[in-house]
Amino acid sequence: MCGIVGFSGHHQAAPILLEGLSKLEYRGYDSAGLAVRDKDRMAEVVKSNGRLKVLAEMTDNGNALKGTTGIGHTRWATHGAPSKINAHPHVSGNCTNSGSGTVESEVVGVHNGIIENYQELKEKLIKKSYQFYSQTDTEVAVKLVDYYYKKYGIGPIDAIAKAMVRIRGSYALELMFQEYPDEIWVARKESPMIIGIANGESFIASDVPAILKHTRDVYYIDNLEFACVKPGEVHFYNLNGDEVKKETVRITWDAEAAEKGGFEHFMMKEIHEQPKAVKETLASVLKNGKIDLSSVGLSEEEIKKFSGITIVACGSAWHVGMVAQYVFEDLAGIPVRVELASEYRYRKPIFYENELVIVISQSGETADSLAALRLANENNVETLAIVNVVGSSIAREAKKVFYTLAGPEISVATTKAYSAQLICCYALATEFARIRQKIDAKYYKYLIEELESIPEKIDIIIKDKERIQWFASKQTNARDVFYIGRGIDYAIGLEGSLKLKEISYIHCEAYAAGELKHGTISLIEEGTLVIGILTQRSLYEKTLSNMLEVKSRGAYLASVTTYGNYNIEDTTNFNVYIPNIDEHFSASLAVIPLQLMGYYISLGKGLDVDKPRNLAKSVTVE
Ligand code: G6P
Repeated sequence: MCGIVGFSGHHQAAPILLEGLSKLEYRGYDSAGLAVRDKDRMAEVVKSNGRLKVLAEMTDNGNALKGTTGIGHTRWATHGAPSKINAHPHVSGNCTNSGSGTVESEVVGVHNGIIENYQELKEKLIKKSYQFYSQTDTEVAVKLVDYYYKKYGIGPIDAIAKAMVRIRGSYALELMFQEYPDEIWVARKESPMIIGIANGESFIASDVPAILKHTRDVYYIDNLEFACVKPGEVHFYNLNGDEVKKETVRITWDAEAAEKGGFEHFMMKEIHEQPKAVKETLASVLKNGKIDLSSVGLSEEEIKKFSGITIVACGSAWHVGMVAQYVFEDLAGIPVRVELASEYRYRKPIFYENELVIVISQSGETADSLAALRLANENNVETLAIVNVVGSSIAREAKKVFYTLAGPEISVATTKAYSAQLICCYALATEFARIRQKIDAKYYKYLIEELESIPEKIDIIIKDKERIQWFASKQTNARDVFYIGRGIDYAIGLEGSLKLKEISYIHCEAYAAGELKHGTISLIEEGTLVIGILTQRSLYEKTLSNMLEVKSRGAYLASVTTYGNYNIEDTTNFNVYIPNIDEHFSASLAVIPLQLMGYYISLGKGLDVDKPRNLAKSVTVE
């Protein structure tokens, strides 16, 4: 989704802003813009449609824009099509010429989020003689601040607080006022924003990688707070305009982790980082051969008391939930339901006594997952977040947090965060099983050894990636692909099919193999690729029969199965074998070839692997 950067210091702002925006490209965007100013000059705005490199070319890599204070934005269109005029920054005055040029406006600003009542506010402002040049809700916000600023004439604090009270929806706003030369004013509701200070200069960003190069000590601005950012200084305020004191939070990710490190794409780098992500996440709760959930804040008494678990998430994190459902129920004998956060938040779910709600999220900022968490909190059930980003909204609002130690994930298509989330669920399920006396000490010990073997086994699969590349290179013209499987294998297929469709733009579905005959089989034509996933011994024959059914209707078959199941070669055209592991944990291994399939097909089609069209890394609007 949209990215925000800001800088106020002694260096020239534009090159720093452009570099910061380049670190946020992974979030997904369709246009970009900058506004930069000096003490004695009005802000100059430059915007472009398309990739950031166009903006860089227009400004000679920022060198053509003079000034030490500035704001920047990458836009992922919500209100109004992707275009130069709709790109941010927006200004409070009138403007022609696609919104670029020196600005004769009091306020200039950028915004992430959605202003829900923008239509009503726009009508009000039109009555007050404001003219609008774009279709964005952001222009409304900027003009609303300008309106209060002029009406009350007592400075930005009052104007921003009044606008915040009036605006409904979500926002991270960054504003510059003509009369306050080296100040950037920021305001937040729901959409994330951080501020870092280093060497007498200040950096603002919607996401950590944009400022990691400059500082690792950051302030998190909270909901319904705003701040004045000056060189090396920041003051926070609540809605009453009272100053709020804050401490910085240290980001432990290093800047290098957010670079490609010799790989052609972040996705491939992150695929290779999976053994490390899994190992470190597991190590964070493993003490002397036992799982210790004290860092998560879960006591044995609580674990014994839970009567059921609800897992809520979006996208791949929801797929993790789908795997976890089988694992928790089978190992720990505890009922689990898995919910899409976007549905759950609006369907009045029934909460019950001793329920545990687990919210899974890489970014910790997904709007629907955050809303689901708040709903659970309001209904007084226990909440536990599995999150990657320290200090994110979900991490801060959940009663308990289990951090995935995957480091920054840049590629839109998640890989290492998914794998780290799975490990958290396995560790929880294994420990729940022990404490609830569903497994004996011997089985517990065996499960932990199996968990510890995952990183090495992932490595073995990755080392064989060239075979998958060879197969993938033949699939670039595929129109439809189907993943089929049963139980955990079905849940793995869901993730595999998402990987393929999101980055290769090939229509791909995952089906519970037993459901094929209820409709999907009619889509099978001569040569349609169907990939069976067969890691569950008790379901192997069943899925194989379903594969034969599609084969006899023309399907071209491939499989992902475990070492030893070589008789599958009688049925299929291509197979990937994965090392044996306790079947509860097979998703961690079987997903790797599916990630590689998605990657190589996308590569073969010459697509932008890390930044697929229309998608955003962190979906901060609903
Ligand atoms: C987007 C990303 C997915 C991710 C989903 C949920 O769609 O592209 O990779 O699984 O959001 O994001 P979260 O940050 O909550 O895990």
